[in-house]
Amino acid sequence: MEISHRSSDFEAVLKKAVDLVRELLKVPENYSILFLQGGASMQFGMVPFNLLEEGHTASYLDTGVWSSKAISEAKIFGNVEVVASGKSGNYTSIPKEYTVSEHSDYFHITSNNTIYGTQLKSFPKSGIPMVADMSSDIFSREFKVDDFSLIYAGAQKNMGPAGATLVIIKNDILGKVSRKIPSMLSYKAMIEGGSMYNTPPVFAIYVCMLTLEWLKNLGGVAEIEKRNSEKAQLLYAEIDRNPLFKGTCAIEDRSHMNVCFVMEDPKLEDPFLALAKTKGLVGLKGHRSVGGFRASIYNALPIASVQVLVETMQEFEKQHD
Ligand SMILES: Cc1ncc(COP(=O)(O)O)c(C=O)c1O
Repeated sequence: MEISHRSSDFEAVLKKAVDLVRELLKVPENYSILFLQGGASMQFGMVPFNLLEEGHTASYLDTGVWSSKAISEAKIFGNVEVVASGKSGNYTSIPKEYTVSEHSDYFHITSNNTIYGTQLKSFPKSGIPMVADMSSDIFSREFKVDDFSLIYAGAQKNMGPAGATLVIIKNDILGKVSRKIPSMLSYKAMIEGGSMYNTPPVFAIYVCMLTLEWLKNLGGVAEIEKRNSEKAQLLYAEIDRNPLFKGTCAIEDRSHMNVCFVMEDPKLEDPFLALAKTKGLVGLKGHRSVGGFRASIYNALPIASVQVLVETMQEFEKQHD
């Protein structure tokens, strides 16, 4: 935290972090890898600022609050076509029937909907550049980077501490908008500066590097995907078996990162949370806009923690026989 970001020591950290992203996600050479600031929320604006020409249209799939925020920001810069929205069903499933205008500058999706616990199990194909907010499931499962022109993710779920945002960008999609872009919001300037146009979030990047090293050593994305599936299956199986609980999302869209569920009898929710707390299970309350419970079972969470939750659900069931 004390050394200069221009020192060779830090340059080696940044290079290693970038190299690990490239290796773990098999990022092709014609893509740049950036560590930026401002969180995924800044990308909501930076994407259209850099990719959506004035008077043109960008297409968005609305699968939750984060997609909606991305849509609002894009409207500042051009027209937005919302190809489909899960809003009327409170975002408990991913819309699947829609068409995307082939004249749009890009098509934006959110791969995992953190608040609602839904996840795109496969990615739509379109003839236009694909952009994905992968904040809450990057590095959790395998996918092909070259299906996308731009991927972004706040670090704070599967990568490291808040403060760094990963952007993976296909170089040839830049330079197509005519507006002037301030350097700090310009992908081109950030690529030219090697993520060091200004002082980068050095400590956050350092911890990302360590986390990615950990991921590589345990077997990479394929291995963590297997572990994540086991964790998710264990928990969803108990939600489906236990008569006191029920899942909130369409089964085929259930997220392997955020497991959302409620109680058949909402009056039992506080007593269950109280029992969970005695087992060291915290942070289980659902997002304020959804209620119920949300178990976030990101990469770093071991299956043993999921087992404790499942056993606690079983103990609660016995108490309420
Ligand atoms: C899918 C998704 N997108 C965007 C965001 C916003 O991220 P940030 O707080 O880094 O701006 C979040 C935050 O949880 C998220 O889960």
